[in-house]
Amino acid sequence: MSLKEKLLPERLPSHIAIIMDGNGRWAKEQGKNRLYGHFNGVESVRNIVEGCAELKIGYLTLYAFSTENWDRPKDEVTGLMELLVQTIRDEVPTLNKNNIRLHVIGNIGMLPENALNELNEACEDTKGNTGLNLIMALSYSSRWEICNAVKEIGKEIKSGNLSLEEISDDLFKQYLCTANFPDPELMIRTSGEYRISNFLLYQLAYSELYFTDTLWPNFRKENLYEALLDYQNRERRFGKISEQL
Ligand code: IPE
Ligand code: IPE
Ligand code: MG
Repeated sequence: MSLKEKLLPERLPSHIAIIMDGNGRWAKEQGKNRLYGHFNGVESVRNIVEGCAELKIGYLTLYAFSTENWDRPKDEVTGLMELLVQTIRDEVPTLNKNNIRLHVIGNIGMLPENALNELNEACEDTKGNTGLNLIMALSYSSRWEICNAVKEIGKEIKSGNLSLEEISDDLFKQYLCTANFPDPELMIRTSGEYRISNFLLYQLAYSELYFTDTLWPNFRKENLYEALLDYQNRERRFGKISEQL
């Protein structure tokens, strides 16, 4: 029985979030520069997006560039932005063919104008698709997102549109970039790092976390199935005890 066949369709997560890490180390192993790693990481993105679409997963969020990543060497940042624009431009027909809708979350005002235009166009061109929602976290950081939400809520209170009493978990969520998406049930991080690195801090409150040593450019559908099988063997208690579930 293949790993894919072992998966229980009724116990698949509706939303998977991935910290795609390890491109630089993968490139170093090959004796190449870091951009070569990012370039090869794109193949993993294609493969995992396809894998999620085949499994009929509703939402896939990919952490592609953090706010902190802007502080990397200029060559790497410029190269990554070019790769981003190029990839998005090339992938739109495939996204449409596979009924995948693209969304972007993050402080995207920091992106170069051409990248921003390409992104907006790609989101617009795929907005009629009803299959997998592919959410790219770009120039994203969770602390930025949370501060931003607090500011927006503050404005509403100041203008009298909202009262303090109305603030709840549900209301707060509506001010996050992920307002239209459910919380991820599963978060995967590649490359053997055991941290969250400013990713979806609010949304991951009850997510199952899965860490693997596999570097992102080596991560393929089979690795995704392994993570999903591990997830399916977990008991999600949400504070309760086993007997209550
Ligand atoms: C992840 O790989 C991609 C981005 C953060 C843009 P890294 O570039 O962080 O690779 P490592 O962690 O240095 O190996
Ligand atoms: C997290 O990876 C960000 C992305 C994968 C986009 P980093 O490589 O930037 O994280 P740290 O610096 O190791 O925590
Ligand atoms: Mg890294």
